[in-house]
Amino acid sequence: MIILVKRFRCIDAEMKKMTTTKEIETKYDITRQTLHNWISGGLISSPSKDWRGWFEWEEDNEKEVQSVLKRKIQEYNVEQLSLPIAPEKLNIHNRRYLGSKQKMLDFIDKVVRENTQDIEVVADIFGGTGSVANLFRKHGKQIIVNDILFSNYLSFLTWFGNEEVDYKKIENRIFELNEIKPTKENYVSHNFGDKYFSLDNAKKIGDIREKIEGYSDLNSRERAFLLTSLLYAMDKVANTVGHYDAYRRKMDSLSPLYLKVPELNKNENNQVFKMDANKLVKRIEADLVYIDTPYNSRQYGDAYHLLENIMEWKKPEVTGVAKKMINRSHIKSDYNTMKAPEAFADLIRNIRSKYILVSYNNMAKKGSGRSNAKISNKEILETLEKRGKVSVYSTDFKVFTTGKTNIDNHKELLYLCEVK
Ligand SMILES: C[S@@+](CC[C@H](N)C(=O)[O-])C[C@H]1O[C@@H](n2cnc3c(N)ncnc32)[C@H](O)[C@@H]1O
Repeated sequence: MIILVKRFRCIDAEMKKMTTTKEIETKYDITRQTLHNWISGGLISSPSKDWRGWFEWEEDNEKEVQSVLKRKIQEYNVEQLSLPIAPEKLNIHNRRYLGSKQKMLDFIDKVVRENTQDIEVVADIFGGTGSVANLFRKHGKQIIVNDILFSNYLSFLTWFGNEEVDYKKIENRIFELNEIKPTKENYVSHNFGDKYFSLDNAKKIGDIREKIEGYSDLNSRERAFLLTSLLYAMDKVANTVGHYDAYRRKMDSLSPLYLKVPELNKNENNQVFKMDANKLVKRIEADLVYIDTPYNSRQYGDAYHLLENIMEWKKPEVTGVAKKMINRSHIKSDYNTMKAPEAFADLIRNIRSKYILVSYNNMAKKGSGRSNAKISNKEILETLEKRGKVSVYSTDFKVFTTGKTNIDNHKELLYLCEVK
């Protein structure tokens, strides 16, 4: 009886001229994954299934596929049409980054201007995007900037490097890279297509990265300009909430990848590093050392593994749902672990500077949970006080004299230590 029912369904399907998923894929040149994403994202309805559990695409289902495709092509064309002929300019702030101090720059500026003297050299040793270093660069200070991530180091070379750059060459290359029309699959599309990026964008990222690798007439800052441009462009079209611990289930980041030309800063005497801040402070001297460590157990090397992977371009094997590089030990930080207070004490002990300025987010209570702070207010104060007089400032510009005031409910604080 069951066999009869199954057979009947087959005949029924043949009579209704059902289309298989494979046929839809070939006919419209889309992947099975895209079709599944469209179904789970509610863009098209789920076709009925045959007795084997395989989709049977009826005429109405196919019409839905056609109308989504039509819409996407229209959206794509509008965006293409609105692309300017000469690539737009990119600036340091056009990037999402966990813990970025972009919104705190006025606060940092005011605290430093009103409470310090004779600052010529500023070191931002947990630089991230470089937003704080950039504040001081604009004030004409000599900059030392550092981070353990290679992707951040590349952008530091762009924004703070001293090397001469042939800007016309950069503009031409970025124009050329934007023109690339990828055809084949590559490392990026294979691992991250239809996940972190649309398949088209993933293919283009892979091709652009390979092309940059092949340019042999660039100095290291010029190469960094192209890679920074790609880094920021990827961030704009990534199907994420701003970091790469996961991608969104629904693929709705279909805007085409577009590279902008990083603004050129003329710099002299800046220093750019990619190393553990605890080692760096033993090698440098500054007037003000700014410290903005990670606060909780979320490793930046995990949150930005994908950018790091593509910038390094060693094409490693990736693992798990989030597709992270297997070996990330070189970008793990003690500041995200229970070792943070010890690492902080070692750091502060070895700094050679007139002032030490520490940003810390105080809302999270110290503890072992993922979002808990790894260093307490008390530990920061006691550690800094070993080096000199400490004042604490909150974003509402209240000053706390150490020891007596409750500073636990303030989100963003600055601790300024005048070194003895
Ligand atoms: C809170 S973020 C800094 C954000 C930055 N101030 C901004 O405005 O973009 C902390 C940074 O420290 C870096 N980092 C973590 N551990 C480090 C270490 N041991 N040495 C140097 N950098 C480290 C991370 O990669 C991350 O970029």
